Amino acid sequence: MGHADMSHADMSPAARARKALVEQFGVAPSAVWSAPGRANLIGEHTDYNDGYVLPFALPHRTAVAAAPVDGPCWTVWSEHTNERVGFGADDLTLGRVDGWAGYVAGVSWALRDAGHPVEPAVMAVASDVPLGAGLSSSAALECAALGALAGDAAPIGEWPRIAQRAENAYVGMPCGIMDQSAAVLCERGHALFLDCRDSSYQQVPFDLDGAGLAMVLIDTRAPHRLVSGEYAARRADCEAAAKTLGVLALRDVDSAALDEALARLGEDVTRRRVRHVVTENQRVLDVVTLLRAGWIREIGPLLTASHTSLRDDFEVTVPQLDTAVSAAIAAGAYGARMTGGGFGGCVLALIDAAAEQEVSAAVTAAFAQAGFDRPAAFLVTPSVGASAD
Ligand code: GLA
Repeated sequence: MGHADMSHADMSPAARARKALVEQFGVAPSAVWSAPGRANLIGEHTDYNDGYVLPFALPHRTAVAAAPVDGPCWTVWSEHTNERVGFGADDLTLGRVDGWAGYVAGVSWALRDAGHPVEPAVMAVASDVPLGAGLSSSAALECAALGALAGDAAPIGEWPRIAQRAENAYVGMPCGIMDQSAAVLCERGHALFLDCRDSSYQQVPFDLDGAGLAMVLIDTRAPHRLVSGEYAARRADCEAAAKTLGVLALRDVDSAALDEALARLGEDVTRRRVRHVVTENQRVLDVVTLLRAGWIREIGPLLTASHTSLRDDFEVTVPQLDTAVSAAIAAGAYGARMTGGGFGGCVLALIDAAAEQEVSAAVTAAFAQAGFDRPAAFLVTPSVGASAD
């Protein structure tokens, strides 16, 4: 294996997808697109409340290479499972293909449903985005497949909605618009400040290097359980609370009027869910203000406050996430929080660039002491959204 494996590891996902298409199907690609995973700097469980989010793209990407075929079917091969999955026009109805290929079939369905022609094709998928770590490997796959299948046929401004629809209606995960927007719209060196109500966005400079800072992503490797059921339950709680409060979405509850709104809610658990969403939206706005002023270190306490709110009020953390946050802060991080949907996944910590080893070692030691599996830690820099390769 040796030699072949080494060159494989050195190749980008786009180069691997391109090569795999030739090897698997004997054709050269007519299109190769890649899209990144994401981390969310702040603004968690706010997207489906019409609120604000501030994700950035990871350097890790998923690529899809595609070529049209004459037959009636699509066939997609994945490097990860080394399996081929075929689907025909009949399968482009809701939920007919499951597993990883469901995201590709879902995008084909959603494209057609939005009036964009999608012709049968062979595809190869290669990815560097960690799977099941809450880093949006699914949105990366959806958006890369969308590019490879529809390319310029669907205006890029429509991609996030089409990909989200694939996930909501075909795969059956009621996610918001954050992950697909990040996969498409992010820019290098910036975080994406997105208003999930009207999809307007601004690129906010997030120059860690210039400030001697770094973001370390700690993959807790905690088993991702309950994700879609608990996620749907949180979403339903928020929607019910908005109804009780007589607003379209919790985004409409102003942080200055929070106490008044809470007083109108009967149950303690509902009050806590609402308090998380309203305070989290305000934290996003505050982080954007600080970043624009060039005060990056100063966002630290807001990141940590977000984690506390997700732990105590929204109740989507697990002990591994809480342990990683406490250990990173004790080791000198300016702030740390879980990122993504929760119930496992990753913690993002803002640190001095020179402190990487120290923080990683402290988290690893805390995990060993608590009897958790060994976590993985790596530095991440804000990277670019979907691109043709
Ligand atoms: C998941 C969903 C997103 C968002 C986050 C929580 O990643 O896919 O839409 O709701 O959880 O912020």
